[in-house]
Amino acid sequence: MEGKKRDNWTSSIGFIFAAAGSAVGLGNIWRFPYLAGANGGGAFILIYLIFVVFIGLSVMIAEFTIGRRSQLSAVGAYKKVNRRFTFAGVIGVLSAFLIMGFYPVVGGWSIAYIIKSFTGLLANEGAIAESFGNFITSPVQPLLWMVVFMFLNLYIVAKGVSSGIEKAGKILMPTLFVLLVLIGIRSVTLPGASEGLKFLFYPDFSKVTGETFLNALGQQFFSLSLGMGCMITYGSYISKQERLPKNAVIITALDTLVALLAGIAIFPALFAFGLQPDQGPGLVFIVVPQIFSEMGAIGPILSAIFFIALTIAALTSSISLLEVVVAYLIDERKFNRTKAVISTGLVMTIMSVLASLSLGAFPNLKVFGVAVFDFFDILTDKIFLAIGGLLIAIFVGWFMNKEDLKDELTNGGSIEFGLFNIWYNLVKYVVPVAIAIVAVLGIIAIEQTSLMIFGLLVILLLAIFSKKL
Ligand code: PFF
Repeated sequence: MEGKKRDNWTSSIGFIFAAAGSAVGLGNIWRFPYLAGANGGGAFILIYLIFVVFIGLSVMIAEFTIGRRSQLSAVGAYKKVNRRFTFAGVIGVLSAFLIMGFYPVVGGWSIAYIIKSFTGLLANEGAIAESFGNFITSPVQPLLWMVVFMFLNLYIVAKGVSSGIEKAGKILMPTLFVLLVLIGIRSVTLPGASEGLKFLFYPDFSKVTGETFLNALGQQFFSLSLGMGCMITYGSYISKQERLPKNAVIITALDTLVALLAGIAIFPALFAFGLQPDQGPGLVFIVVPQIFSEMGAIGPILSAIFFIALTIAALTSSISLLEVVVAYLIDERKFNRTKAVISTGLVMTIMSVLASLSLGAFPNLKVFGVAVFDFFDILTDKIFLAIGGLLIAIFVGWFMNKEDLKDELTNGGSIEFGLFNIWYNLVKYVVPVAIAIVAVLGIIAIEQTSLMIFGLLVILLLAIFSKKL
Protein backbone atom coordinates (compact mmCIF):
# COMPACT_ATOMS: atom_id res chain seq x y z
CA MET A 1 0.00 0.00 0.00
CA GLU A 2 2.80 2.38 0.87
CA GLY A 3 3.84 4.78 -1.81
CA LYS A 4 0.49 4.57 -3.52
CA LYS A 5 -1.27 7.92 -3.55
CA ARG A 6 -4.44 7.85 -1.53
CA ASP A 7 -7.68 9.38 -2.71
CA ASN A 8 -7.90 12.66 -0.71
CA TRP A 9 -10.85 14.85 0.22
CA THR A 10 -11.03 17.44 -2.48
CA SER A 11 -11.44 20.26 0.03
CA SER A 12 -11.17 20.88 3.76
CA ILE A 13 -14.83 21.77 4.12
CA GLY A 14 -15.69 18.59 2.25
CA PHE A 15 -13.86 16.57 4.88
CA ILE A 16 -15.58 18.37 7.76
CA PHE A 17 -18.98 17.78 6.20
CA ALA A 18 -18.25 14.13 5.61
CA ALA A 19 -16.84 13.50 9.10
CA ALA A 20 -19.60 15.52 10.77
CA GLY A 21 -22.03 13.67 8.55
CA SER A 22 -20.69 10.43 9.97
CA ALA A 23 -20.95 11.68 13.54
CA VAL A 24 -24.36 13.31 13.32
CA GLY A 25 -26.95 10.61 12.83
CA LEU A 26 -29.59 8.50 14.48
CA GLY A 27 -27.27 8.57 17.48
CA ASN A 28 -27.97 12.26 18.01
CA ILE A 29 -31.62 12.48 17.09
CA TRP A 30 -33.10 9.05 17.82
CA ARG A 31 -30.79 7.65 20.50
CA PHE A 32 -29.54 10.64 22.51
CA PRO A 33 -33.02 11.96 23.42
CA TYR A 34 -34.39 8.57 24.46
CA LEU A 35 -31.32 7.75 26.54
CA ALA A 36 -31.46 11.19 28.16
CA GLY A 37 -35.18 10.66 28.77
CA ALA A 38 -34.65 7.24 30.32
CA ASN A 39 -31.66 8.31 32.41
CA GLY A 40 -33.19 11.30 34.15
CA GLY A 41 -32.34 14.12 31.72
CA GLY A 42 -29.90 16.75 33.00
CA ALA A 43 -27.62 14.45 35.02
CA PHE A 44 -27.12 12.13 32.05
CA ILE A 45 -26.45 15.08 29.79
CA LEU A 46 -23.89 16.53 32.18
CA ILE A 47 -22.01 13.20 32.40
CA TYR A 48 -22.28 12.87 28.63
CA LEU A 49 -20.78 16.32 28.04
CA ILE A 50 -17.89 15.66 30.44
CA PHE A 51 -17.12 12.41 28.60
CA VAL A 52 -17.29 14.16 25.23
CA VAL A 53 -14.77 16.81 26.26
CA PHE A 54 -12.28 14.58 28.09
CA ILE A 55 -12.65 11.23 26.36
CA GLY A 56 -14.36 11.65 22.98
CA LEU A 57 -12.37 14.63 21.75
CA SER A 58 -9.05 13.07 22.77
CA VAL A 59 -9.90 9.79 21.08
CA MET A 60 -11.03 11.59 17.92
CA ILE A 61 -7.71 13.40 17.68
CA ALA A 62 -6.00 10.04 18.28
CA GLU A 63 -7.97 8.34 15.51
CA PHE A 64 -7.27 11.10 12.97
CA THR A 65 -3.59 10.92 13.87
CA ILE A 66 -3.37 7.15 13.43
CA GLY A 67 -5.21 7.34 10.12
CA ARG A 68 -3.27 10.14 8.52
CA ARG A 69 0.07 8.86 9.80
CA SER A 70 -0.45 5.38 8.39
CA GLN A 71 -2.45 6.33 5.29
CA LEU A 72 -4.40 3.13 5.96
CA SER A 73 -7.75 2.11 7.37
CA ALA A 74 -7.91 0.78 10.93
CA VAL A 75 -6.70 -2.81 10.61
CA GLY A 76 -3.80 -1.94 8.31
CA ALA A 77 -2.84 1.00 10.50
CA TYR A 78 -2.59 -1.11 13.64
CA LYS A 79 -0.80 -3.88 11.81
CA LYS A 80 1.82 -1.51 10.52
CA VAL A 81 2.77 -0.24 13.99
CA ASN A 82 2.25 -3.37 16.07
CA ARG A 83 0.82 -6.66 14.83
CA ARG A 84 -0.50 -7.53 18.28
CA PHE A 85 -3.02 -4.70 17.90
CA THR A 86 -4.50 -6.01 14.67
CA PHE A 87 -7.44 -7.36 16.68
CA ALA A 88 -8.35 -3.84 17.81
CA GLY A 89 -8.90 -2.91 14.17
CA VAL A 90 -10.85 -6.08 13.58
CA ILE A 91 -13.11 -5.30 16.55
CA GLY A 92 -13.78 -1.97 14.86
CA VAL A 93 -14.69 -3.55 11.54
CA LEU A 94 -16.86 -6.03 13.42
CA SER A 95 -18.57 -3.16 15.28
CA ALA A 96 -19.36 -1.36 12.02
CA PHE A 97 -20.72 -4.58 10.66
CA LEU A 98 -22.93 -5.22 13.68
CA ILE A 99 -24.18 -1.62 13.90
CA MET A 100 -25.24 -2.03 10.29
CA GLY A 101 -27.31 -4.96 11.53
CA PHE A 102 -29.81 -2.63 13.20
CA TYR A 103 -29.08 0.94 12.04
CA PRO A 104 -30.76 0.46 8.62
CA VAL A 105 -33.89 -0.77 10.39
CA VAL A 106 -34.32 2.57 12.14
CA GLY A 107 -33.25 4.39 8.96
CA GLY A 108 -36.08 2.58 7.20
CA TRP A 109 -38.61 3.62 9.87
CA SER A 110 -37.50 7.17 9.30
CA ILE A 111 -38.14 7.02 5.54
CA ALA A 112 -41.52 5.41 6.20
CA TYR A 113 -42.46 8.24 8.57
CA ILE A 114 -41.82 10.88 5.90
CA ILE A 115 -44.64 9.29 3.91
CA LYS A 116 -46.76 8.48 6.95
CA SER A 117 -46.73 12.15 7.97
CA PHE A 118 -49.00 12.78 5.00
CA THR A 119 -51.08 9.62 5.00
CA GLY A 120 -53.17 9.93 8.13
CA LEU A 121 -50.63 9.20 10.89
CA LEU A 122 -51.29 12.56 12.50
CA ALA A 123 -55.07 12.47 12.09
CA ASN A 124 -55.72 10.52 15.24
CA GLU A 125 -53.43 11.65 18.03
CA GLY A 126 -54.48 8.90 20.42
CA ALA A 127 -53.49 6.17 17.94
CA ILE A 128 -49.93 7.32 17.18
CA ALA A 129 -48.23 5.09 19.76
CA GLU A 130 -50.26 2.10 18.67
CA SER A 131 -49.57 2.86 15.04
CA PHE A 132 -45.80 2.86 15.71
CA GLY A 133 -46.09 -0.47 17.53
CA ASN A 134 -48.11 -1.98 14.69
CA PHE A 135 -45.71 -0.67 12.08
CA ILE A 136 -42.44 -1.93 13.55
CA THR A 137 -43.91 -5.32 14.47
CA SER A 138 -45.47 -5.99 11.08
CA PRO A 139 -43.53 -8.58 9.07
CA VAL A 140 -43.21 -6.91 5.66
CA GLN A 141 -43.55 -3.10 5.74
CA PRO A 142 -40.46 -2.21 7.82
CA LEU A 143 -38.37 -4.63 5.79
CA LEU A 144 -39.23 -2.88 2.56
CA TRP A 145 -38.27 0.52 3.95
CA MET A 146 -35.07 -0.92 5.40
CA VAL A 147 -34.14 -2.24 1.95
CA VAL A 148 -34.75 1.22 0.44
CA PHE A 149 -32.45 2.73 3.06
CA MET A 150 -29.82 0.06 2.48
CA PHE A 151 -29.93 0.54 -1.26
CA LEU A 152 -29.25 4.28 -0.91
CA ASN A 153 -26.18 3.41 1.17
CA LEU A 154 -24.82 0.93 -1.30
CA TYR A 155 -25.29 3.33 -4.17
CA ILE A 156 -23.42 6.20 -2.47
CA VAL A 157 -20.52 4.09 -1.18
CA ALA A 158 -20.10 2.27 -4.49
CA LYS A 159 -19.40 5.64 -6.11
CA GLY A 160 -16.26 6.10 -4.01
CA VAL A 161 -14.90 8.45 -1.36
CA SER A 162 -14.56 11.91 -2.79
CA SER A 163 -17.45 11.85 -5.22
CA GLY A 164 -20.13 9.94 -3.33
CA ILE A 165 -19.72 10.68 0.36
CA GLU A 166 -18.46 14.21 0.01
CA LYS A 167 -21.26 15.29 -2.27
CA ALA A 168 -23.89 13.72 -0.03
CA GLY A 169 -22.46 15.40 3.06
CA LYS A 170 -22.17 18.83 1.52
CA ILE A 171 -25.80 19.08 0.55
CA LEU A 172 -27.40 17.18 3.36
CA MET A 173 -25.74 18.41 6.57
CA PRO A 174 -26.66 22.10 6.43
CA THR A 175 -30.22 21.15 5.55
CA LEU A 176 -30.46 19.06 8.67
CA PHE A 177 -29.08 21.76 10.89
CA VAL A 178 -31.54 24.42 9.72
CA LEU A 179 -34.46 22.04 10.10
CA LEU A 180 -33.57 21.18 13.68
CA VAL A 181 -33.24 24.84 14.64
CA LEU A 182 -36.68 25.58 13.18
CA ILE A 183 -38.32 22.72 15.05
CA GLY A 184 -36.47 23.71 18.25
CA ILE A 185 -37.78 27.26 18.04
CA ARG A 186 -41.32 25.97 17.61
CA SER A 187 -40.89 23.61 20.54
CA VAL A 188 -39.56 26.08 23.11
CA THR A 189 -42.24 28.65 22.31
CA LEU A 190 -45.08 26.27 23.27
CA PRO A 191 -46.84 27.05 26.56
CA GLY A 192 -45.41 24.83 29.32
CA ALA A 193 -42.17 24.22 27.43
CA SER A 194 -40.01 25.41 30.33
CA GLU A 195 -40.55 22.13 32.22
CA GLY A 196 -38.82 20.34 29.36
CA LEU A 197 -35.86 22.70 29.40
CA LYS A 198 -35.58 22.17 33.15
CA PHE A 199 -35.62 18.40 32.60
CA LEU A 200 -32.84 18.72 30.04
CA PHE A 201 -30.56 21.08 31.86
CA TYR A 202 -31.24 20.67 35.60
CA PRO A 203 -29.33 17.58 36.78
CA ASP A 204 -31.24 15.15 38.99
CA PHE A 205 -28.56 12.81 40.31
CA SER A 206 -30.98 10.52 42.09
CA LYS A 207 -31.42 8.53 38.89
CA VAL A 208 -27.68 8.03 38.25
CA THR A 209 -26.25 4.50 38.53
CA GLY A 210 -23.21 2.68 37.13
CA GLU A 211 -25.31 1.93 34.08
CA THR A 212 -25.94 5.64 33.49
CA PHE A 213 -22.20 6.17 33.18
CA LEU A 214 -21.83 3.20 30.82
CA ASN A 215 -24.77 4.47 28.75
CA ALA A 216 -23.22 7.93 28.52
CA LEU A 217 -19.80 6.50 27.62
CA GLY A 218 -21.18 4.21 24.92
CA GLN A 219 -23.43 6.95 23.59
CA GLN A 220 -20.65 9.47 23.16
CA PHE A 221 -18.49 6.96 21.29
CA PHE A 222 -21.45 5.96 19.15
CA SER A 223 -22.47 9.54 18.48
CA LEU A 224 -18.96 10.73 17.62
CA SER A 225 -18.34 7.62 15.44
CA LEU A 226 -15.42 6.64 17.65
CA GLY A 227 -13.94 3.47 19.07
CA MET A 228 -14.20 1.47 15.88
CA GLY A 229 -11.74 2.93 13.46
CA CYS A 230 -14.22 4.93 11.43
CA MET A 231 -12.35 8.15 12.12
CA ILE A 232 -9.06 6.31 11.50
CA THR A 233 -10.30 5.51 8.00
CA TYR A 234 -11.52 9.08 7.50
CA GLY A 235 -8.24 10.41 8.90
CA SER A 236 -6.35 8.45 6.27
CA TYR A 237 -8.04 10.57 3.63
CA ILE A 238 -7.28 13.99 5.24
CA SER A 239 -4.72 16.03 3.37
CA LYS A 240 -1.36 16.67 5.03
CA GLN A 241 -2.04 20.40 5.22
CA GLU A 242 -5.09 20.06 7.47
CA ARG A 243 -4.92 20.80 11.21
CA LEU A 244 -6.10 17.61 12.89
CA PRO A 245 -6.93 19.00 16.37
CA LYS A 246 -8.92 21.90 14.92
CA ASN A 247 -10.95 19.54 12.74
CA ALA A 248 -11.61 17.25 15.70
CA VAL A 249 -12.87 20.17 17.79
CA ILE A 250 -15.20 21.36 15.03
CA ILE A 251 -16.67 17.91 14.45
CA THR A 252 -17.09 17.17 18.16
CA ALA A 253 -18.76 20.54 18.74
CA LEU A 254 -21.12 20.14 15.79
CA ASP A 255 -22.12 16.64 16.85
CA THR A 256 -22.79 17.72 20.43
CA LEU A 257 -24.70 20.76 19.28
CA VAL A 258 -26.99 18.64 17.13
CA ALA A 259 -27.66 16.20 19.99
CA LEU A 260 -28.55 19.08 22.30
CA LEU A 261 -30.67 20.66 19.56
CA ALA A 262 -32.53 17.39 19.15
CA GLY A 263 -33.15 17.38 22.90
CA ILE A 264 -34.38 20.97 22.75
CA ALA A 265 -36.59 20.11 19.79
CA ILE A 266 -38.20 17.17 21.60
CA PHE A 267 -38.38 17.67 25.38
CA PRO A 268 -39.98 21.12 25.77
CA ALA A 269 -42.79 20.09 23.43
CA LEU A 270 -43.06 16.72 25.13
CA PHE A 271 -43.59 18.34 28.52
CA ALA A 272 -45.87 21.00 27.03
CA PHE A 273 -48.17 18.19 25.90
CA GLY A 274 -47.94 16.31 29.20
CA LEU A 275 -46.14 13.24 27.80
CA GLN A 276 -43.60 11.03 29.63
CA PRO A 277 -39.87 11.39 28.83
CA ASP A 278 -38.95 7.71 29.34
CA GLN A 279 -40.71 6.18 26.36
CA GLY A 280 -37.63 4.29 25.16
CA PRO A 281 -36.52 3.78 21.54
CA GLY A 282 -39.95 4.74 20.22
CA LEU A 283 -39.59 8.24 21.67
CA VAL A 284 -38.92 10.12 18.46
CA PHE A 285 -41.39 8.13 16.39
CA ILE A 286 -44.21 8.41 18.91
CA VAL A 287 -43.65 11.78 20.50
CA VAL A 288 -42.69 13.87 17.50
CA PRO A 289 -45.75 13.00 15.38
CA GLN A 290 -47.92 13.44 18.47
CA ILE A 291 -46.47 16.90 18.99
CA PHE A 292 -47.07 17.82 15.36
CA SER A 293 -50.55 16.37 15.30
CA GLU A 294 -51.64 19.12 17.68
CA MET A 295 -50.43 21.85 15.37
CA GLY A 296 -53.16 21.82 12.79
CA ALA A 297 -52.50 22.11 9.10
CA ILE A 298 -48.78 22.79 9.44
CA GLY A 299 -48.28 19.60 11.48
CA PRO A 300 -47.85 17.07 8.66
CA ILE A 301 -45.39 19.35 6.88
CA LEU A 302 -43.26 19.88 10.00
CA SER A 303 -43.40 16.19 10.75
CA ALA A 304 -42.29 15.26 7.23
CA ILE A 305 -39.46 17.80 7.42
CA PHE A 306 -38.33 16.29 10.69
CA PHE A 307 -38.21 12.77 9.30
CA ILE A 308 -36.46 13.91 6.13
CA ALA A 309 -33.81 15.41 8.41
CA LEU A 310 -33.58 12.21 10.41
CA THR A 311 -33.23 10.14 7.24
CA ILE A 312 -30.53 12.45 5.92
CA ALA A 313 -28.62 12.24 9.17
CA ALA A 314 -28.94 8.47 9.28
CA LEU A 315 -27.73 8.10 5.73
CA THR A 316 -24.57 10.17 6.08
CA SER A 317 -23.69 8.07 9.16
CA SER A 318 -24.46 4.67 7.74
CA ILE A 319 -22.41 5.32 4.62
CA SER A 320 -19.45 5.83 6.93
CA LEU A 321 -20.17 2.55 8.72
CA LEU A 322 -20.30 0.79 5.39
CA GLU A 323 -17.08 2.54 4.37
CA VAL A 324 -15.24 1.11 7.41
CA VAL A 325 -15.98 -2.41 6.23
CA VAL A 326 -15.47 -1.63 2.54
CA ALA A 327 -12.12 0.11 3.16
CA TYR A 328 -10.98 -2.92 5.16
CA LEU A 329 -11.89 -5.28 2.33
CA ILE A 330 -10.19 -3.09 -0.25
CA ASP A 331 -7.01 -2.36 1.73
CA GLU A 332 -6.54 -5.67 3.51
CA ARG A 333 -8.34 -8.25 1.41
CA LYS A 334 -7.73 -6.74 -2.02
CA PHE A 335 -11.40 -6.62 -3.03
CA ASN A 336 -12.41 -4.12 -5.66
CA ARG A 337 -14.91 -1.49 -4.48
CA THR A 338 -17.95 -2.90 -6.22
CA LYS A 339 -17.38 -6.41 -4.94
CA ALA A 340 -16.75 -5.11 -1.41
CA VAL A 341 -19.92 -3.01 -1.42
CA ILE A 342 -22.16 -5.73 -2.78
CA SER A 343 -20.91 -8.50 -0.48
CA THR A 344 -21.08 -6.42 2.72
CA GLY A 345 -24.43 -4.95 1.70
CA LEU A 346 -25.87 -8.40 1.30
CA VAL A 347 -24.81 -9.62 4.74
CA MET A 348 -25.91 -6.39 6.42
CA THR A 349 -29.31 -6.68 4.78
CA ILE A 350 -29.75 -10.20 6.14
CA MET A 351 -28.77 -9.07 9.64
CA SER A 352 -31.14 -6.12 9.45
CA VAL A 353 -33.98 -8.42 8.37
CA LEU A 354 -33.38 -10.54 11.47
CA ALA A 355 -33.15 -7.44 13.69
CA SER A 356 -36.35 -6.00 12.29
CA LEU A 357 -38.29 -9.26 12.61
CA SER A 358 -37.04 -9.74 16.18
CA LEU A 359 -39.00 -6.65 17.23
CA GLY A 360 -42.37 -8.29 16.79
CA ALA A 361 -43.08 -10.48 13.82
CA PHE A 362 -40.77 -13.19 15.23
CA PRO A 363 -40.33 -12.35 18.91
CA ASN A 364 -38.40 -15.56 19.49
CA LEU A 365 -35.44 -14.25 17.51
CA LYS A 366 -33.45 -13.70 20.68
CA VAL A 367 -29.81 -13.95 21.70
CA PHE A 368 -28.84 -13.95 25.40
CA GLY A 369 -32.43 -13.15 26.28
CA VAL A 370 -32.65 -9.97 24.20
CA ALA A 371 -34.10 -9.38 20.74
CA VAL A 372 -31.55 -9.61 17.90
CA PHE A 373 -32.03 -5.86 17.39
CA ASP A 374 -31.00 -5.10 21.00
CA PHE A 375 -28.25 -7.70 20.86
CA PHE A 376 -26.47 -5.84 18.03
CA ASP A 377 -27.08 -2.53 19.79
CA ILE A 378 -25.87 -3.52 23.27
CA LEU A 379 -22.93 -5.56 22.01
CA THR A 380 -21.54 -2.68 19.95
CA ASP A 381 -22.44 0.39 21.96
CA LYS A 382 -21.80 -0.83 25.48
CA ILE A 383 -18.91 -3.24 24.86
CA PHE A 384 -17.09 -3.06 21.53
CA LEU A 385 -16.97 0.73 21.18
CA ALA A 386 -15.92 1.26 24.80
CA ILE A 387 -13.18 -1.37 24.54
CA GLY A 388 -12.31 -0.08 21.06
CA GLY A 389 -11.84 3.43 22.48
CA LEU A 390 -9.75 2.02 25.32
CA LEU A 391 -7.51 0.16 22.87
CA ILE A 392 -7.08 3.22 20.65
CA ALA A 393 -5.99 5.26 23.66
CA ILE A 394 -3.58 2.55 24.82
CA PHE A 395 -2.23 2.10 21.30
CA VAL A 396 -1.52 5.79 20.82
CA GLY A 397 -0.33 6.45 24.36
CA TRP A 398 1.84 3.40 24.86
CA PHE A 399 2.75 1.93 21.47
CA MET A 400 3.20 4.86 19.12
CA ASN A 401 6.27 7.03 19.19
CA LYS A 402 5.59 10.34 20.98
CA GLU A 403 7.73 12.27 18.51
CA ASP A 404 5.83 10.75 15.57
CA LEU A 405 2.56 11.83 17.13
CA LYS A 406 3.84 15.35 17.65
CA ASP A 407 5.13 15.44 14.10
CA GLU A 408 1.76 14.38 12.71
CA LEU A 409 -0.25 16.76 14.89
CA THR A 410 1.93 19.73 14.04
CA ASN A 411 2.13 18.86 10.33
CA GLY A 412 5.84 18.17 10.54
CA GLY A 413 6.48 21.10 12.89
CA SER A 414 4.97 23.69 10.56
CA ILE A 415 2.05 24.52 12.86
CA GLU A 416 1.55 24.81 16.64
CA PHE A 417 -0.43 22.40 18.80
CA GLY A 418 -0.03 24.03 22.21
CA LEU A 419 -2.13 21.44 24.04
CA PHE A 420 -0.09 18.49 22.79
CA ASN A 421 1.15 17.42 26.22
CA ILE A 422 -2.26 17.72 27.81
CA TRP A 423 -3.79 15.65 25.00
CA TYR A 424 -0.98 13.10 25.21
CA ASN A 425 -1.38 12.59 28.95
CA LEU A 426 -5.16 12.39 28.65
CA VAL A 427 -4.86 9.67 26.04
CA LYS A 428 -2.07 7.83 27.80
CA TYR A 429 -3.40 7.82 31.37
CA VAL A 430 -6.81 9.43 31.93
CA VAL A 431 -8.84 7.94 29.08
CA PRO A 432 -7.84 4.28 29.64
CA VAL A 433 -8.38 4.50 33.40
CA ALA A 434 -11.71 6.32 33.03
CA ILE A 435 -13.03 3.82 30.49
CA ALA A 436 -11.89 0.87 32.62
CA ILE A 437 -13.66 2.26 35.70
CA VAL A 438 -16.88 3.01 33.83
CA ALA A 439 -16.82 -0.41 32.17
CA VAL A 440 -16.46 -2.22 35.50
CA LEU A 441 -19.17 -0.11 37.21
CA GLY A 442 -21.43 -0.63 34.21
CA ILE A 443 -20.96 -4.40 34.04
CA ILE A 444 -21.83 -4.67 37.73
CA ALA A 445 -24.96 -2.54 37.32
CA ILE A 446 -26.28 -3.81 34.01
CA GLU A 447 -28.95 -6.52 33.68
CA GLN A 448 -27.52 -8.28 30.59
CA THR A 449 -24.46 -9.67 32.36
CA SER A 450 -24.16 -12.79 30.20
CA LEU A 451 -24.23 -10.67 27.04
CA MET A 452 -21.48 -8.45 28.43
CA ILE A 453 -19.36 -11.48 29.28
CA PHE A 454 -19.94 -12.87 25.78
CA GLY A 455 -18.75 -9.58 24.24
CA LEU A 456 -15.63 -9.56 26.35
CA LEU A 457 -14.93 -13.18 25.42
CA VAL A 458 -15.16 -12.34 21.72
CA ILE A 459 -12.61 -9.59 22.22
CA LEU A 460 -10.35 -11.94 24.16
CA LEU A 461 -10.53 -14.58 21.43
CA LEU A 462 -9.78 -12.02 18.75
CA ALA A 463 -6.78 -10.87 20.77
CA ILE A 464 -5.50 -14.42 21.21
CA PHE A 465 -5.86 -15.29 17.53
CA SER A 466 -4.75 -11.87 16.29
CA LYS A 467 -1.82 -13.34 14.37
CA LYS A 468 -4.24 -15.06 12.02
CA LEU A 469 -6.22 -11.88 11.26
N1 PFF B 1 -22.30 8.47 14.81
C1 PFF B 1 -23.44 7.84 14.21
C2 PFF B 1 -24.69 8.33 14.86
O1 PFF B 1 -24.62 9.10 15.81
O2 PFF B 1 -25.77 7.96 14.44
C3 PFF B 1 -23.36 6.35 14.24
C4 PFF B 1 -22.01 5.82 13.87
C5 PFF B 1 -21.49 6.07 12.63
C6 PFF B 1 -21.27 5.14 14.81
C7 PFF B 1 -20.21 5.63 12.30
C8 PFF B 1 -20.01 4.70 14.54
C9 PFF B 1 -19.50 4.96 13.28
F1 PFF B 1 -18.30 4.56 12.99
